[in-house]
Amino acid sequence: MTDTTTTSASPLDLTDAEREADLDLEQLKQLVGLVEYDESTDPFPVTGWDAIVFVVGNATQTAHYYQSAWGMELVGYTGPENGTRDHKAFVLKSGSIRFVVKGAVTPDSPLIAHHAAHGDGVVDISLEVPDVDKCVEQARRAGATVLQEPEDLTDEHGTVRVAAIATYGETRHSLVQRVVDGRTYEGPYLPGYVAASSSFVKRDGAPKRLFQALDHIVGNVELGRMDEWVAFYNKVMGFVNMAEFIGDDIATDYSALMSKVVANGNHRVKFPLNEPAVAKKKSQIDEYLEFYSGPGAQHLALATNDILRTVDELRKEGVEFLDTPDAYYDDPEMRARIGEVRVPIEELKSRKILVDRDEDGYLLQIFTKPLGDRPTVFFEIIERHGSLGFGKGNFKALFESIEREQDKRGNL
Ligand SMILES: [Fe+2]
Repeated sequence: MTDTTTTSASPLDLTDAEREADLDLEQLKQLVGLVEYDESTDPFPVTGWDAIVFVVGNATQTAHYYQSAWGMELVGYTGPENGTRDHKAFVLKSGSIRFVVKGAVTPDSPLIAHHAAHGDGVVDISLEVPDVDKCVEQARRAGATVLQEPEDLTDEHGTVRVAAIATYGETRHSLVQRVVDGRTYEGPYLPGYVAASSSFVKRDGAPKRLFQALDHIVGNVELGRMDEWVAFYNKVMGFVNMAEFIGDDIATDYSALMSKVVANGNHRVKFPLNEPAVAKKKSQIDEYLEFYSGPGAQHLALATNDILRTVDELRKEGVEFLDTPDAYYDDPEMRARIGEVRVPIEELKSRKILVDRDEDGYLLQIFTKPLGDRPTVFFEIIERHGSLGFGKGNFKALFESIEREQDKRGNL
C-alpha cells in the first residue's frame, strides 16, 4: 500500500467542483440537503460524487443531446485520436456534477457486450474519496468485491489514485482520490483525457445552466434483495439510513415497490434502493429489471434552484416529462397537505410539477420519460425547500402516471 497524505478539508468545505461552479454552502444545504458530520470516525469517508459514467449506443450524439437539451458543457474527451482505441468518451459538466458518456468504436470493444445486455445506462457511480486505500481496506474487510485495486494514474496534469468496488448488477463504484501526496490533479477529468470544448452554441437567452448539482441516484434491485443492498451500504461504506418506505406506502392497484434510502455522512450522496413488491400486475421495477437485464440505476435526480425555468427550457428543447393528472392539483386534501409554496399552484399545474411536504419543509419535483430506447433510466428534476425527503407523498400519483406509459408499451 502506498502511503498517501491527503489535504482534503473537513466535510462541510466546498469541493473543488462546487467552488468552480460558484456554489456556496448555504445553497448546497438547500439544494441537496448537505449536513455536517464527523469524518474522523467514518470507516469509508466519501467527499461526494466524482462522475456518473454512462455507456450508450452513440456517445457522439448523446454528448450533443446533453449539451443541446440539458445545457451541459463539454469539458473533456478521450478516443482514438489520443490513444483510446476501442471507445470514445465525452466529459460534460453542469454545476458541480460531471457526466461521462462512453460509446464503443471498435466491434470488439467490451462496451459492446455491456450495451447489448443493458442498453443505455449508468455503468459507474464514481465517488470522490479523500483516501482510496482506507476505503478499499474497509470494503475488503466488510466483504465487498474489489474490482480494481488502488493504483496511481499519472499524466502531465498530475496524479489521481483510483480503485473500484462492485455494487448492484453490473454497476460499480469507482473511488477517486484527486489529492495525492498533497497535490491536486489538474486535468479535465482523469489521466488519458484531454480538455475539450464544443462548437455548440446555446440558443439566445438560454440560462447558464439548467441544474447545479446531483441530489440522488435510485438503484433498482431484485425482489427480496433490497435489505441486502441497504446492509451493503451500511457495512461496507458506512452509509446511514434516511427515510424508509415500505409496501403499501407506495402501492397503486397494480404496481408496488419497497424503497429504503441510504446516504453518506455529509448527505451529498444519497441512494434510494427499490425492489419490486407483489401486486396485481407487473411492477415498474420489474419492467426495469427485465429491460435492463438486471439491477441498475433507475433515475438520477438533478438539483435546481429554479425548477420552473429549468422545466420550461427543457420542454423548449423537446424533453418529455411524465404527465400528472389535473386532479392531482385540484384535490383539496392535497392542497391542504402541501400548504404554501413559493409559487401559485397554477404555475406548477401548468408544468405538471409535483409538490411534497414533510416536517422539514417541501420539495418540487418532476420526472422525465425514459432517456433512451429502453424503459429504463430517466431523470428527476428536484428543487428542495427544507425537505430532505424524496417525494413519498407523490409516489402514488407518480406511479399511476408511469403505469399509463407502461400500459401503452404493453408491459403492464
Ligand atoms: Fe428520486
